[in-house]
Amino acid sequence: MAKLTLARRLTYDIASNWKNVVDNFLECYHCHVAHKDFVSLVDMSTYQVTTYGIHSSHMAQAGRTENSAYDVSGATVTEHAVWWLWPNTCLLRYPGRGNFMVLQIIPAGPERTREIWDFYLETAEPDEAELDSIRYIDEILQVEDIALVESVQRGMRTPAFTQGKIVYDPGGSGLSEHAVHHFHGLVLEAYRRELGRA
Ligand SMILES: [Fe+2]
Repeated sequence: MAKLTLARRLTYDIASNWKNVVDNFLECYHCHVAHKDFVSLVDMSTYQVTTYGIHSSHMAQAGRTENSAYDVSGATVTEHAVWWLWPNTCLLRYPGRGNFMVLQIIPAGPERTREIWDFYLETAEPDEAELDSIRYIDEILQVEDIALVESVQRGMRTPAFTQGKIVYDPGGSGLSEHAVHHFHGLVLEAYRRELGRA
């Protein structure tokens, strides 16, 4: 990581509460349905989500050459590795050259979130493959996820919404939403702590 340098920053303005954006980040139950290119890059049968005290990790084998997301020929990193740190910081390492990404999910209003996605790469100028992966994240993956979380926000605003349900797989697969449940527990604890102080 000491050898990496900031090469690109992407920012997004999202019409959703920040907690919906974090929810979306913490499970891959929606991946097969929403991210057809992502599931061709990542071997979903190896996807494992593990929760710890105040963070969770999301690991999978990835970097299939025959994928529709982006070019990974010559990749030195062949793992999809993602961490979420309470409350709103995400660290990511995608298949490709040496890379590390920092995604901040910043509350900007009850139904507004700002995202800042920083790419740290081996060189300040991304190579062709990295430009390809940045384009994939910016023009496909983010577009798919932002559409999802904004639609969840619209749904939650209707009187029909009371609460959601959690899909749970004890095996800890990406299809399970236990990391969402873990996040909700931390939110609840934070509210209780503040109310206790009031
Ligand atoms: Fe997603």
